[in-house]
Amino acid sequence: MGKVLKAFARAPGKIILVGEHFVVHGESAIVMAINRYITVMVEGRSDEIIHITSDLGISGQYDKDHFYGPRDHQKTLDPIKISILSVLEALGENQGLDVHISSTIPVAVGLGSSGALAVATVAAVGQYFNNKFQAEELLKLSLNAERYVHVNPSGVDQAISTYGGAIIYNKKTGLTRLEAPLPIPIVIGNTGIERNTGQLVDQVRKLKQQYPQTIDPIFHSAGELSIQAIEAIQQSNITRLGNLMDINHGLLMAIGVSHEALDRLVHIAKQNGALGAKLTGAGGGGCMIALVAQEQSNQIAEKLEQGGATPIIAEKVNTGVRSWISE
Ligand code: PMV
Repeated sequence: MGKVLKAFARAPGKIILVGEHFVVHGESAIVMAINRYITVMVEGRSDEIIHITSDLGISGQYDKDHFYGPRDHQKTLDPIKISILSVLEALGENQGLDVHISSTIPVAVGLGSSGALAVATVAAVGQYFNNKFQAEELLKLSLNAERYVHVNPSGVDQAISTYGGAIIYNKKTGLTRLEAPLPIPIVIGNTGIERNTGQLVDQVRKLKQQYPQTIDPIFHSAGELSIQAIEAIQQSNITRLGNLMDINHGLLMAIGVSHEALDRLVHIAKQNGALGAKLTGAGGGGCMIALVAQEQSNQIAEKLEQGGATPIIAEKVNTGVRSWISE
């Protein structure tokens, strides 16, 4: 028997360091890839079926347009199928595939799991057909799945999973790579509280409409804050970055997107010596982040756990998606 080749790809998740919500209305956000990953493995089949399995136990198969498997799994698997078909179409292939997904990124708490999944799937399927996509093409193909989930995605999650490192995102100017000379040690506190990003974004829009004289200056302040945070990172001034993150949390509280559980964890992190702490992503639950000195990570993670969170010790990773072949 010939050797059975398996293609793999691994893409990182992300945190938003500063600027969430304000970015929706034109200010800049800083996004950073973290050492939590989605890994996708692809093997060929002798038919045209796409069979998807995952460590989470979600599985099903597609034969042409027919789905076979538990109905409640289909919603999760459809975007993955879209990613796979986008690549098959781009490469003019129609071979069936077995696709297996494993992840160390918690789902639906704002750590970029769906973006990383799309990017890793596109890269792994491309790699199976001996095609390493250029970053731009990979990003374009991986956005097809996101468009299915959200009508108008900014694409920032896919971009950070593709490129790694840190990027500045602004609706007007798009993506700019941010050179960050120092590691940026982060402890994430996951409240486990589910939230709906779209609803929170809408809530902010309404508040802004209702109280423009009060809320617009907060947005302006957040925009200035992002500019200063970019400088702090470029100058490796971690203390200044921490202070700016604290202020950013205050601004996010002011626009109503924090949550009692997030505020408590932010308070715990600060009391135990974090350089800065804030909610990350949409808020209303999900995760907070604490910027820490490397040697404090374990202790702050422990305190966050005592405070009811699931802690994750994370750091910036400079490499984005990576793919390879193995037997
Ligand atoms: O929930 P997340 O981590 O994907 O973050 C959403 C970030 C927002 O600024 C609230 C929305 C957006 O589209 O930028």
